[in-house]
Amino acid sequence: MQVVHTAAELRAALAGHAGTAFVPTMGNLHAGHVSLVDLAKLHGQPVVASIFVNPLQFGAGEDFERYPRTLAADCDKLAAAGCDLVFAPDIAEMYPVPQTFTVQPPESLANDLCGAFRPGHFSGVATVVLKLFNLVQPRVAVFGKKDFQQLFVIRELVRQFNLPIDIVASDTLREADGLAMSSRNAYLGASERIQAAQLQRELAAIAAAVQAGERDDEALCANAARHLKMAGWRVDYIALRDAATLQAPTADSRRRVVLGAAWLGTTRLIDNLEFGLDVPV
Ligand code: PAF
Repeated sequence: MQVVHTAAELRAALAGHAGTAFVPTMGNLHAGHVSLVDLAKLHGQPVVASIFVNPLQFGAGEDFERYPRTLAADCDKLAAAGCDLVFAPDIAEMYPVPQTFTVQPPESLANDLCGAFRPGHFSGVATVVLKLFNLVQPRVAVFGKKDFQQLFVIRELVRQFNLPIDIVASDTLREADGLAMSSRNAYLGASERIQAAQLQRELAAIAAAVQAGERDDEALCANAARHLKMAGWRVDYIALRDAATLQAPTADSRRRVVLGAAWLGTTRLIDNLEFGLDVPV
């Protein structure tokens, strides 16, 4: 596996390759990222992963500085997973001039759910992903469903800018207690780590209630938020949506998704659960 740090090295390494499968990451890799590489291998060759902690998608006071930088360990994991090439630029390589030209996702996506609590976040994501797509020029790119809203932003970016890239979504990997794998889990103290699986349990309880015929989405979400708050969480949102549109479900929404974002101490966790309706609406 080759590791390159500059756009010129990347271009040279990819010369003559038309079927690249790309896995963009911010590093601090875990088994969830390895599963993205596994999926990428099924869709193209060579498999390229990027590792770049993108300052543009972090707001003031967020965890940009403390986000773990673990390049050597990440490269070991990627090599073991069968990745062919790693692009690990520094900030000056990605942003040689201030990035005053940015991608603004549609407001309905950018300011909803996580976007309502992280102003500018999805613009930062869309901007760096477009730059990475232009640098890597992949045929396929793989993103995790754990960042469900991000996946919608990327799909819309590809659709509205006619990018010739297939976006492949990868299922969330979970720890034994159900906690979604995330680089940010490393921030959790021992007791927070035990508590963290509650977010997923609350989402699962909402999904089960909807599947059982409960239709008061607002009450279900408020109830879950109350449980979390009672246990010491600070809740950004718990929301039920149509899984295909990310809009409020209609009577026709057969596939739904329940999403949540909440803080344990100084750690913000997100999770979601897609489910189908097996009862008539
Ligand atoms: O999901 C992530 O790790 C990041 O948001 C991404 C897509 C690599 C862009 O920085």
